[in-house]
Amino acid sequence: MGNLELVKKDKIYLLNWEAAKAAVEKCTHIDEAKKIRDQAEALKAYIKQAREGLEIQNKVAEIKIRAERRIGKLSKELPTHEHRLAQAGHDDPPVTTKTNVLKALGIKRRVANRYETIADIPDNMFEETIGTIKNRHEELTTSCLYKAAKEFHHQAEIEIQKEKLRKISDSDCIPVLKHCDFRKFMKTLPENSIDLVLTDPPYGKEYIPLLSDLAREARRLLKPSSFLIFYYGNLFLPQALNSISQYLEYYYSGFLYHKGPTRPDYSVNMWTRGKPILFFFKPPLKKQDTWIENVFVSEAPNKILHEWGQSEPTFIKLIEAFTAPGDTVLDPMMGGGTTISACIKSKRKSIGFEIDKDHFNEVMNLYGRAL
Ligand SMILES: C[S@@+](CC[C@H](N)C(=O)[O-])C[C@H]1O[C@@H](n2cnc3c(N)ncnc32)[C@H](O)[C@@H]1O
Repeated sequence: MGNLELVKKDKIYLLNWEAAKAAVEKCTHIDEAKKIRDQAEALKAYIKQAREGLEIQNKVAEIKIRAERRIGKLSKELPTHEHRLAQAGHDDPPVTTKTNVLKALGIKRRVANRYETIADIPDNMFEETIGTIKNRHEELTTSCLYKAAKEFHHQAEIEIQKEKLRKISDSDCIPVLKHCDFRKFMKTLPENSIDLVLTDPPYGKEYIPLLSDLAREARRLLKPSSFLIFYYGNLFLPQALNSISQYLEYYYSGFLYHKGPTRPDYSVNMWTRGKPILFFFKPPLKKQDTWIENVFVSEAPNKILHEWGQSEPTFIKLIEAFTAPGDTVLDPMMGGGTTISACIKSKRKSIGFEIDKDHFNEVMNLYGRAL
């Protein structure tokens, strides 16, 4: 069965699903897979309109999704750049590029990327996901598979991170982590026990009160002459500085310059390209030994574990300038744990708190030991 010709029969129940699946797997060119996909889509629309049951809808959807996965697999194999192998006397014909093939078939790049992502799911996981959705009597859609594929990529990234950290980490700097509200738990740590508090709190107006609690506890926990360094948004900066100044002394300000695209801040009609980094200390003042520039360029931030994940190299620079190997760094609002991984990489001990259970679990699973 080269395509879904049986679709044309009056009784769609006569479809030979196994043959359709096999036909998808046999496609060696994207246009063949695309043809099956389009037919399955048309059939799905027809079945929906005819108010057929979910079971039959899902069977057709399955063929469509399998064809999309096949398109993804074939598209991944296409060369992205045209290259000619110059040979004595003649040029080889140009290689057909992915862009050309997709364009000719009317497949948008964004759509092809989705298919390619779905194509990356290992076979057993792909079959399992389809089976689970069908067994739960839910509608089988490309979005479901795309979500599963993204989750697969996410987990794979985490495993890569884990492996890297496993190599670097020695038992002395296994981070100590706690799922909690820092306002309750910072109180339980011993006075003068921390060499640096490095954090990136949420920046909204409603979070300003957190900063007084942070500064008060940081003053108690920090060793004399140690620093609190934190990132902050531009909008409520005066309030943030006031809150922190109640308990700690202002030292300096820095700026984190974001390399990527600018972001609009509609409240002030500004295109934003960065944010302040604030440095406070617990008296008496003792300058850090290492000279450091106060403008930091944010590399691609680490969004694997947190939508607000920060760029790790900047955290490493700050940690290395303001602490010594073996020192202890606290991040009371660690989010996706950038401070924590930066500490492991720079051989510092770290303590991290996080109020959000899911973020905490991810960081814990990746690096931690529970407090
Ligand atoms: C901007 S994010 C931190 C992102 C982090 N720097 C990273 O790179 O992934 C701020 C985090 O503070 C956490 N948070 C807010 N209030 C908290 C509290 N009272 N105690 C502990 N964590 C809190 C939020 O759940 C959020 O994950």
